[in-house]
Amino acid sequence: MIENDFVTAHTTVLCIIGYPIEHSMSPIMHNAAIRELNLDYIYLAFNIFPANLNLAVKGIKAFNIIGINVTIPFKQKIMKYLDEIDPIAKKIGAINAIKNDKGYLTGKNIDAEGAMKALLNAGYTVSGKNILLLGAGGAARALAYIMAEDVHKIVFVNRTEKRALKLSNQIKKYFGINAEAKKMSKNVLKDESKKADIIINTTPVGMYPNVDKSPIPAECLHEDLIVYDIVYNPLKTKLITDATQKGCKTLGGLDMLVNQGALAFEWWTNKKPDTSLMKKKIIEFLGKS
Ligand SMILES: NC(=O)c1ccc[n+]([C@@H]2O[C@H](COP(=O)([O-])OP(=O)(O)OC[C@H]3O[C@@H](n4cnc5c(N)ncnc54)[C@H](OP(=O)(O)O)[C@@H]3O)[C@@H](O)[C@H]2O)c1
Repeated sequence: MIENDFVTAHTTVLCIIGYPIEHSMSPIMHNAAIRELNLDYIYLAFNIFPANLNLAVKGIKAFNIIGINVTIPFKQKIMKYLDEIDPIAKKIGAINAIKNDKGYLTGKNIDAEGAMKALLNAGYTVSGKNILLLGAGGAARALAYIMAEDVHKIVFVNRTEKRALKLSNQIKKYFGINAEAKKMSKNVLKDESKKADIIINTTPVGMYPNVDKSPIPAECLHEDLIVYDIVYNPLKTKLITDATQKGCKTLGGLDMLVNQGALAFEWWTNKKPDTSLMKKKIIEFLGKS
């Protein structure tokens, strides 16, 4: 136990690794939770040059960093260095959190759980729904695998059709559900949005600094849709603004971010963090920057 912000030789280190890392909100929310619980921990962010990933893993063990978040571009590449991978993360093919138990590294995909929890907490259900998923990268994979058992159909629309096709084939094979892949175009988005109940954006389109961009034209949106944009900077993306104006139900990316952060924090420290405080600190920070 420590008082205030005092770091001692006993202090345990948690961290996030990525490249680049400067955009990360994780230190803000995790350190707020640490301070509020008065724990002897500190959460740092490390910019790891991609060629140094193997050295970073050795460093994690050498410095006994007990909890690690992993972000772009390491969510898949780091898996080969871990001792154990949780079964959901294995299916997804990516991890975003590691627990270090005396040098034994276990990886989990907490993005998936965080994204689902955010939807459920907002009162939305995916059960029996038609999902239009924009993107086929790491976050799309996490969402697709966690939702697939419940949904009626997922249509993957991606800039690179091949990647969407690969993901839709895997989902079809694994869950036996209806899935399709299409190349992103205005016409495809127009047709598919008419048939969808929920649109989920997992592309970075609309993310800071390109805040005037949206992955889908506003005219494709209609009031029966739930629109979920996992981008959290800005808090209100152009997609969310357009969707609100069209009368859609909406959900931004902040709750997913906070939920996955809280799940990792609890896994590492065995303490439940205050998610509303974590959320408030990010909103304050983004408001200032
Ligand atoms: N809220 C949260 O907690 C949370 C968690 C994870 C991720 N995210 C956000 O989700 C986004 C994606 O992350 P990720 O890890 O999935 O990244 P990723 O693996 O790099 O995948 C990015 C996806 O977006 C597509 N894309 C990229 N630029 C595009 C463009 N200009 N136009 C159309 N499509 C484009 C890519 O298409 P191609 O296949 O054609 O390259 C790919 O499908 C990021 O903005 C990230 O910040 C949020």
